[in-house]
Amino acid sequence: MTRTLVFAQQKGGAGKTTLLVQTAAALAAAGRPPSLVDLDPQRSLTRWNELRGADALPIESASEWQASTALRRAAKAGEIVLADCPGNADVLLRAAVRAADLVAIPCQPSPMDAWATQPILEMAAREKTPAVVILNRVPPRGGAGPAVEAALAEFGAEILPVTLGNRVAFSTAFLEGRAASEISPRSTAAREALALAEALLARLA
Ligand SMILES: Nc1ncnc2c1ncn2[C@@H]1O[C@H](COP(=O)(O)OP(=O)(O)OP(=O)(O)O)[C@@H](O)[C@H]1O
Ligand SMILES: [Mg+2]
Repeated sequence: MTRTLVFAQQKGGAGKTTLLVQTAAALAAAGRPPSLVDLDPQRSLTRWNELRGADALPIESASEWQASTALRRAAKAGEIVLADCPGNADVLLRAAVRAADLVAIPCQPSPMDAWATQPILEMAAREKTPAVVILNRVPPRGGAGPAVEAALAEFGAEILPVTLGNRVAFSTAFLEGRAASEISPRSTAAREALALAEALLARLA
């Protein structure tokens, strides 16, 4: 059975594309290459995938009115679909959330990011799609902080048990069409990315 995981968060720069590609590479390395769907007109996921050359993954890109079709087509092509969404795009987000088995919502440890999770959490609840917040760029000490934790608790957010730190390897790998696990397999970034993929798979199961 195909599982569709949609990365969405209205706040720009939260880490949607970064965490998606880390997950994609981890799944590919584990022998379960995902199908990708790029719904963001910026097409950063498509660029990353093009840079992979022979290791490129199957990918669909689509604009707003074609989103549902692209997601359905990708679901026929692979066991796991990973879809990247733009920040603010209400109609498209609704279509993607509706098609998803799980919505992954990256959130940096700032109150602004935490507040920005509310609309997407509400949309997921309306569409009866499970959603999980992934805390990203969490500092080594102190976690996400009390203000962020309080806001997420208020919205009833489920938080993935795996968090990611601020890791240069994520951004340098991205520029090469790679993931942290591929450019520095022993790094903390690689370990975190693997844990992320495992936690998302477990949550999708
Ligand atoms: N854990 C991290 N450690 C270091 N850099 C990160 C991390 N997560 C994201 N970044 C960096 O933050 C920037 C924004 O990340 P990304 O593009 O993944 O966010 P996004 O949510 O997809 O943004 P947009 O809404 O514009 O599509 C990028 O430069 C990326 O390299
Ligand atoms: Mg993005």
